[in-house]
Amino acid sequence: MASPQPSSANRSSLKDHNIIIYSADFLSLCLLLSLLSTVVYAHAFSGVEERKGVKSDLFPEILRDEAVTQLIELGKVSDADGYLERTFWSPASVRAGNIIRIWMEDSGLITWVDQMGNVHGRVEGMNASAKALLIGSHLDTVIDAGIFDGSLGLISALSALKVLNITGRLGKLSRPVEVIAFSDEEGVRFQSTFLGSAAIAGILPVSALQIRDKSGVTVQDVLKENSVDITEENFFQLKYDPESVWGYVEVHIEQGPILESVGLPLGVVKGIAGQTRLKVTVRGSQGHAGTVPMSMRQDPMAAAAELIVLLESLCKHPENFLSYDGHCNGFAVESLAGSLVCTVGEISSWPSASNVIPGQVTFTVDIRAMDDMGREAIIYELSNRMYQICDRRSVSCNIERKHDANAVACDTGLSLQLKSAAYTAMKRMAGVVLDDVPVLMSGAGHDAMALSHLTKVGMLFVRCRGGISHSPAEHVLDDDVWAAGLAMLSFLETHL
Ligand SMILES: *[C@@H]1O[C@H](CO)[C@@H](O)[C@H](O)[C@H]1NC(C)=O
Ligand SMILES: *[C@@H]1O[C@H](CO)[C@@H](O)[C@H](O)[C@H]1NC(C)=O
Ligand SMILES: [Zn+2]
Repeated sequence: MASPQPSSANRSSLKDHNIIIYSADFLSLCLLLSLLSTVVYAHAFSGVEERKGVKSDLFPEILRDEAVTQLIELGKVSDADGYLERTFWSPASVRAGNIIRIWMEDSGLITWVDQMGNVHGRVEGMNASAKALLIGSHLDTVIDAGIFDGSLGLISALSALKVLNITGRLGKLSRPVEVIAFSDEEGVRFQSTFLGSAAIAGILPVSALQIRDKSGVTVQDVLKENSVDITEENFFQLKYDPESVWGYVEVHIEQGPILESVGLPLGVVKGIAGQTRLKVTVRGSQGHAGTVPMSMRQDPMAAAAELIVLLESLCKHPENFLSYDGHCNGFAVESLAGSLVCTVGEISSWPSASNVIPGQVTFTVDIRAMDDMGREAIIYELSNRMYQICDRRSVSCNIERKHDANAVACDTGLSLQLKSAAYTAMKRMAGVVLDDVPVLMSGAGHDAMALSHLTKVGMLFVRCRGGISHSPAEHVLDDDVWAAGLAMLSFLETHL
């Protein structure tokens, strides 16, 4: 396990990360304790290498070796030459679905594909009428993707179920367990995320069937091409009955640097951040770059620059902006401090020429936070201050709200069970008594967001190298794949 004890050089960054992890919930004493404990168990983990191969009850052949082989094989199933790309119902997605189905059957599950292209594998266990545990993640990818995003959640569940089958315990599960490989989480083709999981959660409007991709093909056309004749009636039958479901669990790569910085393979997710997307348009007077004196300009580009720097300051130090404001209480400021992130990712100007003062500049703002009220307070404060800057600079500003999604809190009970499963897995691998499992928040959206409208949800994060994802450089250590499978096994064992 290539996870050395944090050096003194990166201790301070380690401490920062702990502040992010525990944000509002813990006091500084707690921070100090967790800092000490993470150092202790990061150290404990350096012992795994020597013990590898000795403990056959840890099923390394299935949970690590076979799982890694499968991840690599699935990572080759692509619509593109030379890089990984699988979008909703594409030929590669259909091939990947067929492969997952074979692996599901190999783990002892009964399989089917639904009309949105989600692949299901289910075992009824001892009591077919008990509420089912759903475990899932997505089978689609971004363009030029890594091989772990989505797939790891499916493979870790299937490898754990395979161990149960081989050890004769699969049929002894106290409730049905169903693994679902969702057909669309990244939303690459139709720009609408969660087509697969939202349909099962019952929150996808039937109008989604009419969404068009860049070439004008609708979701319904794509389904027809694949011999799926979807009607309004059977569309709504995709929705699961909340009474038939016990809960939803998802394993996913962290897509961030925190687990790596504390030197541990697994963490529990306490929630998924809420998100707002804004479009800001700044209009000034277009003119000649050589002839209009500086004192007479109404330059929307310079104004946009000031607005973007304002956004950065506001999101770095919300307490400096919100604490004296009647609209936001201390609680919101405190809960924002750990999770608030703001980004301008896209900017364009008109006419966009080097010798022209632009007439108009447009940019996007992406704001995410765990606390919905705090996010609202930030947007309120940001808008007020942006309009003030635009007034002072005599440019006109327009702020449009393009997208909103509220934060999703993971279920406390389910998170405790996952935490204990992660703890057990890490302890068994390291062979030492460990302290606590890190608790993280997710800045990225996941299928669990959609499923939270159907049932309680819980998530486990797995360390990935450098926190990198959505890139071929995405990497998870073989032993961390093993840790994820072992945690799923421990979790499933509590349902025997
Ligand atoms: C588990 O695997 C065996 C084959 O090894 C199979 O016969 C059995 O039906 C499987 N499923 C369950 C639910 O045990
Ligand atoms: C099976 O599950 C149902 C629904 O939860 C419950 O009412 C019933 O008692 C269970 N049967 C057994 C044998 O545990
Ligand atoms: Zn993902």
